[in-house]
Amino acid sequence: MKVCVITGGGSGMGLEAARAMPNDRVFLLSGRTQSKLDRAAERLKAEGKQAYVMTCDTSDRRQVHELARYAASLGEVTNVIHAAGLSPSMADPEKLLRVNALGTVYVNREFAKVMTKGVIVDISSNSAYQLPKIMIPRKTYCLAEKHEQAFLDKLLRMCRLVKDSYKSAGLAYALSKNFAVWYAQKSAFELGSRGIRVCSISPGLIATDMGELEKGEGASMLKYTAEKRMGTPEELGFAIAMAADERNGYLAGVDILVDGGSVNGKNA
Ligand SMILES: NC(=O)c1ccc[n+]([C@@H]2O[C@H](COP(=O)([O-])OP(=O)(O)OC[C@H]3O[C@@H](n4cnc5c(N)ncnc54)[C@H](OP(=O)(O)O)[C@@H]3O)[C@@H](O)[C@H]2O)c1
Repeated sequence: MKVCVITGGGSGMGLEAARAMPNDRVFLLSGRTQSKLDRAAERLKAEGKQAYVMTCDTSDRRQVHELARYAASLGEVTNVIHAAGLSPSMADPEKLLRVNALGTVYVNREFAKVMTKGVIVDISSNSAYQLPKIMIPRKTYCLAEKHEQAFLDKLLRMCRLVKDSYKSAGLAYALSKNFAVWYAQKSAFELGSRGIRVCSISPGLIATDMGELEKGEGASMLKYTAEKRMGTPEELGFAIAMAADERNGYLAGVDILVDGGSVNGKNA
């Protein structure tokens, strides 16, 4: 049986991606909150899907390792959608970098160990595109796999230069998501020869719980979207499911902006 794992699958885009994926597989939803996962699994079951849940904090590599092992015990892991993430209002810069950036390393690495072929889709953000090129610390990104503390220290030093605490968290978020795009591309070229296809998706402002929380700050981007509106979780779920579907076999090593056009609208 094929297994589709969705981190952050208890809500928002992760759950909508599960709903949009074909029914011919087992779904394993993970996140930190058991009750949220149980509710999401019940919803999938009511819609005719097989669903399992497991709590997992993706900023803890050991827990991600256990999640991957459990997924492999359910069948052949063919699809991994990594949607778990935190936004600037939810956490301080260190936590944002640990969950959004290092979490992506752990998910891609630990799942690659249990997959023989398949797809990994990492969810980033259009915030990844908000950093001027000169501020993108590529050399620091290269430290993430082997020198985690140095990776964190260097990125946190950049964030501390911003005195306003929300803006500092905003910078950490943008860095963590820019890293996720970079890391998905790196993973694609490392894992492609093994038949594991990797890509990322960068949503704009989407009306999930997280999007509602950030909409005060994020609203400034809405005027640049083609339709002057937020995206819906269902629209993103469909886009993510499309990217994660095996039939989309030539989609690799690339980031897909699903942001209603806001990045291009702003630069126009
Ligand atoms: N909504 C937007 O406007 C927007 C825009 C751009 C990008 N994104 C990205 O899209 C992804 C999905 O977000 P969403 O909008 O669907 O929001 P959401 O409904 O809040 O979903 C995020 C999920 O991640 C889980 N999560 C958070 N921290 C975690 C951790 N350390 N370990 C495991 N799970 C964790 C949460 O569950 P628990 O709290 O129970 O762990 C939650 O179910 C995120 O990566 C987010 O950064 C969102």
